[in-house]
Amino acid sequence: MIRYPLDISVPFIGENAKKYLNECIDSNFVSSVGPFVKKFEESLANLLEIDSELLTTTNSGTSALHLALLASGIKKDDLVIIPSYTFIATPNAISIAGGIPWIIDINPKTCTINTNLIKEELENKTIKKNGFTYHKKLNKRVFGIIPVHVFGFPPDLDQVTKIGKDFNLKIISDAAGGLGSFYKNKSLGQSIDHGIISFNGNKIITTGGGGLFFSKNFELVNKVRHLASTARKTLDYIHDELGFNYRISNLHAALGLSQVECFEMILSKKLKIKQLYLKNFEDNKNIQFIEPEEFGKSSNWLNAIMIKKNKSFEINEFLSFMHQRKINIRHYWRPIHLQPPYLKCPRSIQNISSNIFSRIIVLPSSANINNEEINYVTDNILSYLNR
Ligand SMILES: Cc1ncc(COP(=O)(O)O)c(C=O)c1O
Repeated sequence: MIRYPLDISVPFIGENAKKYLNECIDSNFVSSVGPFVKKFEESLANLLEIDSELLTTTNSGTSALHLALLASGIKKDDLVIIPSYTFIATPNAISIAGGIPWIIDINPKTCTINTNLIKEELENKTIKKNGFTYHKKLNKRVFGIIPVHVFGFPPDLDQVTKIGKDFNLKIISDAAGGLGSFYKNKSLGQSIDHGIISFNGNKIITTGGGGLFFSKNFELVNKVRHLASTARKTLDYIHDELGFNYRISNLHAALGLSQVECFEMILSKKLKIKQLYLKNFEDNKNIQFIEPEEFGKSSNWLNAIMIKKNKSFEINEFLSFMHQRKINIRHYWRPIHLQPPYLKCPRSIQNISSNIFSRIIVLPSSANINNEEINYVTDNILSYLNR
């Protein structure tokens, strides 16, 4: 049976969700105080294979990234390198923290950050002064790099870390969609020194809205937790610096815990979905499946394909063809250097993300999609491409 419309990624709500949410309501713990916040954080520590003292939840991935930058010491007008292909939350977090995104083009195969290009740009356009790296022409400090897990795939984290060491840059990973992925056989928590995850509704697990900061640096985690709790030092309302109300609520954490309990099941469903899509598109000369590089393993959160260059393809026409068939495929991310708030930001663009973004199709990948629905999606895509 096909359950229209078919969306890209809708939440999979597990058995305990209602029970835990009712417990919040019955106990009156619906706000940021309540037992589920700790339980959710402990379950995440388990998933990430890190100590629960090394993470703290927030009310969104964007707020986690904002605070990660502040806690790491970003100053006004510092430059932060980001890939041109990411969700707008990445540069937004930098801007809210007072910095300026330096937008660098991507690796065309995996759509993640291009470490060779970053290295080249840093070598050619920066100088070292007082132990820091400065952009020569703009005379601004380069604070750090935010590598992004695009479609959940890890970028080359060892390379980014090396660049960070060579140029004294902070590395904060935007692994908003990275939960469940591996880098060189290491879990997300083991492969990233400082990073964030999002639990927005479209992610592999969701709290409705929520995020997480995790780090190997205990003090940094404490700082983020403090800033997320209005920088309140004592119960009698002493706030020792400018803080934010970015805590997760007990309600959201309760939903989150029920999601973590389903995580393994969601992962195995996602793998089966990917296998069927791969089989359905096997040997199709117009389509390239976007896959992680050899060092990465994806959670298969989303399945993305690219329509090859030699095939003429008009994305808006394709989208309306799909919508008429009740398949809600949408335009995915538009490159950041083309977004109105970021038109004036420094950039190193080779037209890779601008050329491919309207050839990328993210397929309906919700954990509860059935085989008939997957076949319906592929049949329609193939019939459009073979017209
Ligand atoms: C790459 C990336 N970064 C950051 C975010 C922001 O997360 P949130 O929506 O939880 O604020 C998202 C969310 O979708 C994302 O995809």
